[in-house]
Amino acid sequence: MEKYIVHGGKRLEGSVRIGGAKNSILPVLAAVLLNKSDDEIVLKNVPYISDVIKMVEILRSLGVNVTWSGKNLTIYSRGVNNYSVNEVLMREMRSTIFLMGALLTRFGQVCISYPGGCAIGQRPIDLHLKGLTALGAQIREQHGYIYASSPRLTGGNIHLDYPSVGATENVMLASICARGITMIYNAAKEPEIVDLQNILNKMGGRVRGAGTDQIRIDGVSQLHGVEYTVIPDRVVAGTILMAAAATGGDVQLENVIPGHLEAVIAKLREAGVQIRAENDRLHILAPERLRAVEFVRTLPYPGFPTDLQAPMMALLCKARGTSMIIENVFDSRFKHVGELLRMGANIQVATDARTAVVKGVAQLTGAAVTAPDLRAGAALVIAGLSAEGKTTVDGLNHIDRGYENLDGYISQLGGNIERI
Ligand code: UD1
Repeated sequence: MEKYIVHGGKRLEGSVRIGGAKNSILPVLAAVLLNKSDDEIVLKNVPYISDVIKMVEILRSLGVNVTWSGKNLTIYSRGVNNYSVNEVLMREMRSTIFLMGALLTRFGQVCISYPGGCAIGQRPIDLHLKGLTALGAQIREQHGYIYASSPRLTGGNIHLDYPSVGATENVMLASICARGITMIYNAAKEPEIVDLQNILNKMGGRVRGAGTDQIRIDGVSQLHGVEYTVIPDRVVAGTILMAAAATGGDVQLENVIPGHLEAVIAKLREAGVQIRAENDRLHILAPERLRAVEFVRTLPYPGFPTDLQAPMMALLCKARGTSMIIENVFDSRFKHVGELLRMGANIQVATDARTAVVKGVAQLTGAAVTAPDLRAGAALVIAGLSAEGKTTVDGLNHIDRGYENLDGYISQLGGNIERI
């Protein structure tokens, strides 16, 4: 099993370019199934991460022809001939759930097993299933499999009980060719939803309102090929900002959309960091020691993203004063706490497992730690960069799901990290 060896204490300096967003490309890769035409779909700025590699494998198993060429994917989906998703692949990642909406649209039926994904608490799919049912799908769950069918989905009004990102995207994929109009109320507003709307519209769809809490989809009869560049990954960008902040760094990020990171930038400024945004660039200059922040509350977009909660906690471990972190989106998303404690952090988690109180310590010390999930893994790397001595981070399979060459980024900025 490969590991990262991190030697802390080096200030990050220099500039890096941020790649395409994992959370955009995954639903977009489901959207390619909607193209029955002979046209190709070319996706640009695709991150080479294990979640994407697995999704491509699934698409191939369904009969899609996919070719990588550098950062681009060329995709022909006319030959899709299978609506059952391989169980082993399905269990490996949660994002396979989007395939339900897309395959229902394509075949009028779909068979999947319950999806897997990061171990960050219960991740039910009730909102996805409610949404598809509202469009007329008949859903049957048996022996760990979900079967859904509908000869032709019909538009409807869907009120999501919670603005779930995945459920919003799944309903968009299922309603794009449905008969009539679909309205999604209390929709998620994440930038990745806007990205999905943009590609669907470029393929001939009629979607409006993404980025607000009401999305309207006017069903169209067919979609066609497209060339599309996915948005930069705001979570990767945020992670690098936090790594820079934790090391008193001076770093420039290129190819970012600063507007997607407003809540994160606001919290980093509260911690004493200077950040300047200019077009598609962000420059961060951090002081030697950060200040604690009163509260970090994770919320759906445009609130502070749950995916950056663990990295933010890692950098607050050494801040002057006491910070409180409240995780509102997922239960059980504090698995990094135990590992940070091994490095000398002072963190207490309340009995509700939603609130963590972080008392800044003067120094963290390197230790052998294991990434319990994707973003927690990145947090441990950040902690290692700001710790004294050597940190070994195990569990890189989690980190590889969402970070393309994280060690490469950090080495480029002068950090001392090695993958062995
Ligand atoms: C997406 C992101 C993930 C991010 C999360 C929240 C992708 C591929 N993943 O995940 O990185 O952490 O948004 O920003 O885009 N819920 C239900 N029932 C459902 C669906 C969700 O109760 O049917 C709950 C979840 O358990 C969770 C909350 O809603 O507590 C948010 O989940 P959701 O927004 O659906 O996240 P994902 O789409 O899984």
